[in-house]
Amino acid sequence: MTMKTKRILCVVGTRPEAIKLAPVILALKKQPWVEVRVLATAQHRHMLDQVLNFFNIEPDIDLDIMRPNQALTTLTARLLLDMDNVLLAEKPDVVLVQGDTTTVMTVALACFYHRIPVGHVEAGLRTWDMQNPFPEEANRVIAGKLARWHFAPTEGSRENLSQEGIPGSDIIVTGNTVIDALLIAAVKELEVGIDLDAAKRLVLVTSHRRENFGEPFRNICIALRTLAERNADIQILYPVHPNPNVKDVANELLGNTSNIVLCAPLDYAPFVAAMKKAYLIISDSGGVQEEAPALGKPVLVLRQETERPEAVEMGVVKLVGSDSDRILKEAQRLLDDEVAYLAMARGVSPYGDGRASERIVNALREHFA
Ligand code: UD1
Ligand code: UDP
Repeated sequence: MTMKTKRILCVVGTRPEAIKLAPVILALKKQPWVEVRVLATAQHRHMLDQVLNFFNIEPDIDLDIMRPNQALTTLTARLLLDMDNVLLAEKPDVVLVQGDTTTVMTVALACFYHRIPVGHVEAGLRTWDMQNPFPEEANRVIAGKLARWHFAPTEGSRENLSQEGIPGSDIIVTGNTVIDALLIAAVKELEVGIDLDAAKRLVLVTSHRRENFGEPFRNICIALRTLAERNADIQILYPVHPNPNVKDVANELLGNTSNIVLCAPLDYAPFVAAMKKAYLIISDSGGVQEEAPALGKPVLVLRQETERPEAVEMGVVKLVGSDSDRILKEAQRLLDDEVAYLAMARGVSPYGDGRASERIVNALREHFA
């Protein structure tokens, strides 16, 4: 019996959502029973577009919602209003969202009001602290309450959802689609595209978490500057997030150190190339905590806690917070102590085998069959 066609609306708002939903969109497009529609809220503009270009995905609808330094309340309100029109016009059978951004929370709420079932990709990540990360913990808790399918990346995330009373039959452990994306990128020729000093060990940095804005972020920058000044044999490459709260401070505190290279956000493929080249990664990013272990690169995480405890438990990722002395001490240790370094550079990945998208597609197909 042939299956009736289902219209699946895949929503992407920011860079990480596009990276992690792209493999799912590409897998769905191969299914004869699916009509795939792609909605870009464009909560990010340039950072989103470069990912969609890389994966050759053209949005069917683009809300172009980004405004410079937009307040979270304004972003949410504008998105919610726009989603009314989108859902009325599109009438999807299923909506897929990924992760924990304002796009995810708002689209899940709009779908709830329109009684359209939502599949949540990367479901069940929790720190159990609504302030950390802010506002992401609240976003994913709310999306989790509203979703029909919970595509959990790990057993730990499945347990978190069970603890919140989500029935086991609604949770599917898939692995994280970030590894699917990484495998798609890894088969291509990857170049960083930035003139780096091959004689120096590369320390790759990213930082953008809202809970670090202000004093904590200044402390992070001071630690990075001191690290660079004390170690002439390293080069720090820091693609700076365009959020003005990050960009202005990074330029002020790190702009004049000879072995620190600040650049605009790298496109996904060059960034993967930079991760592969790196000796060490220092980051508060969620996605980077998942990618780097798969590439055998140690990560020092500029946060007090993480919703991704698996790699920390394996000893390949370490939380160092935003205290300058602590960051410096831990980074210096990895630069000086080969045993400590090798213990973290093991190339083990707790986040999946690159087949998460296939499992998500299969779960939806089984549901509709
Ligand atoms: C958002 C997500 C965060 C995710 C991060 C990934 C929320 C609340 N936050 O954070 O969970 O980890 O994306 O990067 O959903 N900007 C540009 N060009 C771009 C993108 C952003 O100029 O291509 C600037 C704009 O001024 C924008 C600001 O950055 O207003 C902040 O963007 P926003 O989406 O609100 O939050 P992020 O801090 O990027
Ligand atoms: N990334 C990128 N260019 C950069 C920095 C990061 O393409 O300059 C990618 C990275 O490989 C990862 C994702 O962006 O897949 C992480 O996004 P981000 O750190 O912005 O968000 P988070 O994962 O913290 O939500």
